[in-house]
Amino acid sequence: QTEEEMENQKRTYQSFRHLVSTLPSVDGVSYLPLHCYNGWYASLPSLVSAMVAREHFKAQPTDVLLATCPKSGTTWLKALLFATVNRSSHTNSHPPLAALSPHQCVSTLESAVYINDRIPDLDALPSPRLFGTHIPFQSLPATVLDSGCRIVYLCRDPKDCFISLWHYINKLRAQDNIELRTLDEALEYFSNGISPFGPYWDHVLGYWNEHLERPQKVLFLKYEELMQHPKVHLKRLAEFVGSPFTEDEEKEGVVEGIIRLCSFENLSNSEVNKIGRVELAVGTVENSFFFRRGEVGDWANHLTPEMARRLEEITESKFRGSGLSF
Ligand code: A3P
Repeated sequence: QTEEEMENQKRTYQSFRHLVSTLPSVDGVSYLPLHCYNGWYASLPSLVSAMVAREHFKAQPTDVLLATCPKSGTTWLKALLFATVNRSSHTNSHPPLAALSPHQCVSTLESAVYINDRIPDLDALPSPRLFGTHIPFQSLPATVLDSGCRIVYLCRDPKDCFISLWHYINKLRAQDNIELRTLDEALEYFSNGISPFGPYWDHVLGYWNEHLERPQKVLFLKYEELMQHPKVHLKRLAEFVGSPFTEDEEKEGVVEGIIRLCSFENLSNSEVNKIGRVELAVGTVENSFFFRRGEVGDWANHLTPEMARRLEEITESKFRGSGLSF
């Protein structure tokens, strides 16, 4: 890149930074204060990166975008998709996943691709290109829709998602000596939609409605179902991205191999995920922060029955009539 190009890129970021800094900021169940834009909340660095992505990301028809609300199992889905799509190049050993965090194998547009005042040239990446994103459906780069590329959306019971988020943001806050969020405070913010890339319910509904509209382009998965029937859903995923498992692969146990490789147990115990770090828009984050318990229903260890009921009532009323439930 020439110096002039780099200067222009810097200016692009600066102008979005200026724009976002004029939006009022609020405290949320988050590490940094959040700004509301186009109906959703994000921290300044994430929002700026999302705006740059919206303007500069050119989707290709063969791309697969992996969309999630934070703490819905992004890390797991990235690993599963990466291992599935690249299975022929690294049979059995899967070296990249042993040496790199799933977040390095599949970069997230607004937290790792468009950061540090850079607008990378992604055209030369081998296809299918895989990218993660937390950007709500209504704010995705327009080329995602125009190109007809595929989107895999993973969602999770809001109660587990909330508990996972609460732990995660408190780890980030503790690292910076910022006062921790109590569970009560966090619940209040989350229930009011003030969470990163939230409101959670709008995020899920945005992608759910698009899945109903274009099921061949938007696959909708649930963390709980993936946990219960990993083989069924991994096969669906492979078919959806145009890379179905052959009969021979099934006989050889390739599907089970990928499930094992990407299991919480295996990934959370690998060296890179124990001691490595990843550079994101919000700062450097320990890979280990993406692995906590990896279970369904851990919310019951934290939420009182009233707190759980509060989230369940909101979920019921927001999802009523949509065909979606938890
Ligand atoms: P918990 O905090 O409930 O344990 P994200 O990847 O979207 O940031 O979500 C993080 C959540 O996914 C954490 O949930 C984390 O433990 C869980 N997770 C990470 N890797 C996983 C895996 N391989 N299988 C199942 N869950 C996983």
